[in-house]
Amino acid sequence: MENEFAVRMVNVTKTFGSVVANDSVSLDIRFGEILSLLGENGSGKTTLMNMLAGLYYPDFGEIFINGKQVSIESPHDAYALGIGMVHQHFKLIDVFNAVENIVLGETRANGKYDLKAASKRIHEITDRYGFELDEKKKVYEMSVAEKQTLEIIKVLYRGANILILDEPTAVLTPQETEKLFNVLREMRKDGKAVVLITHKLNEVLELSDRVTVLRHGQYISTVDTSKATELSLTEEMVGEKVTLDIERPTPDHPQKRLDISHLTVYSEEKLKTLDDVSFTVYGGEILGIAGISGCGQKELLEAIAGLQIVEPGSKIEFDAPDGSVKDLVGRSPREIASYGVNLSFVPEDRLGMGLVASMGMSANMMLKDYEKGKSPFLNRKDPQELASRIREELDVSTPSLDTPVRKLSGGNVQKVLVGREIASSPTVLLTAYAVRGLDITKSYTIYGLLNEQKKKGVAVVYVGEDLDVLMALSDRILVLCGGKANGMLDARTATKEEIGRRMTELQGVQA
Ligand SMILES: Nc1ncnc2c1ncn2[C@@H]1O[C@H](COP(=O)(O)OP(=O)(O)OP(=O)(O)O)[C@@H](O)[C@H]1O
Ligand SMILES: [Mg+2]
Repeated sequence: MENEFAVRMVNVTKTFGSVVANDSVSLDIRFGEILSLLGENGSGKTTLMNMLAGLYYPDFGEIFINGKQVSIESPHDAYALGIGMVHQHFKLIDVFNAVENIVLGETRANGKYDLKAASKRIHEITDRYGFELDEKKKVYEMSVAEKQTLEIIKVLYRGANILILDEPTAVLTPQETEKLFNVLREMRKDGKAVVLITHKLNEVLELSDRVTVLRHGQYISTVDTSKATELSLTEEMVGEKVTLDIERPTPDHPQKRLDISHLTVYSEEKLKTLDDVSFTVYGGEILGIAGISGCGQKELLEAIAGLQIVEPGSKIEFDAPDGSVKDLVGRSPREIASYGVNLSFVPEDRLGMGLVASMGMSANMMLKDYEKGKSPFLNRKDPQELASRIREELDVSTPSLDTPVRKLSGGNVQKVLVGREIASSPTVLLTAYAVRGLDITKSYTIYGLLNEQKKKGVAVVYVGEDLDVLMALSDRILVLCGGKANGMLDARTATKEEIGRRMTELQGVQA
């Protein structure tokens, strides 16, 4: 690598109508380093990197690759310059298998793909970096982590030595994240330049060599990671002093809302995903569900919301505020929602479920596709009013309430999704991955909103990835392990060690 600087961007500006996404940004990226790109939702990270990937073209400014000024007008140009980007929303073809997706779009001499040669090169890449890839597997059969692996291999296959990953860990389990990080460390060893966009500050501190911070489209600073802390980085991002505390008010007259016993669920593959789970949920509390990924948290929330078929003998009773008791087993998701038991599940692919990308915020307020898109129904609240309230409270940056949500930055899409559920005034709020993709300050805004719900007497069931947050926010913690309830703990006294032990100690029994 002849030049230490892989990329040098000088005074790059990009606007969308009246929105200045990048305002004269200059930064450099070196070979042999992992550079974190940090900034609040909508600060311009994705836009800036999309200009390197050839998806957008700058209004002004200069880009140098390997010390030479370039003009990147298409993804093809980017590949030719050794730049590859793995996007927040994957760009794979569902019906093609792994190898086909990798060679797709490759320039061919004789009009044919040489799949055998391709396969050989793919092997070299997977061996070098320790990827696991099933070449024949179709994309629609793949997990999110597998799709991401495929995207990364595709980029390497095309010879990228400058790799940009846009929030790659937002959808990964901690175990998958660790694997990815090992791959990125190997890339660094090979002298590649790696850019990591992430909102998880612990990842920034663990992995990267330098951190560049953007704020409102402007370049703010670059520091050596060794000199940074979570607090210092947050203050750079926000531009003022911040405190990162999670409030935990004492529950006020908790009322029983959900009575769940012997809840058992089988997956489509006939595996037991929930095994005789019993617990109670109170209004005015936040009940955290802890467990390693795949232990049944998702199924638990879905079962309550009517999205899972439960086995005979399972009991899910809802004690309504008017004193009536409703049996939720066998009810449709729509009926359950109409009782005030609402599920806010932020999916791995935020645009894949729950929002219609081509519609604006207001129109999306009317849609709740509990029945997987089949029969969206009208929300009784005035959608315009809801939308503007959410926009205000969560500071959603969008030019208008009618701007298609696909044009919003990732985190802003998220706020629309979560805000819609919270704003529907539920009695029970089931929430999973509410802060996925949100920057740190917005995550704390969401924790605050959940606390507000709790103070109003709402029963909040919280599923999230960050154990520290779960422990700080919850009143009680139900630990799941391999689909079984493995303890109900007082979150004020429980230790991380005990929760960790309970999360894993039944492992193997299930398998
Ligand atoms: N295609 C587009 N059309 C209109 N506005 C856009 C478009 N792409 C981005 N924007 C706007 O540009 C700004 C920067 O968005 P960008 O996606 O780069 O932010 P980000 O830092 O990646 O945010 P996040 O952390 O939420 O992913 C936002 O205000 C966004 O709404
Ligand atoms: Mg982004």
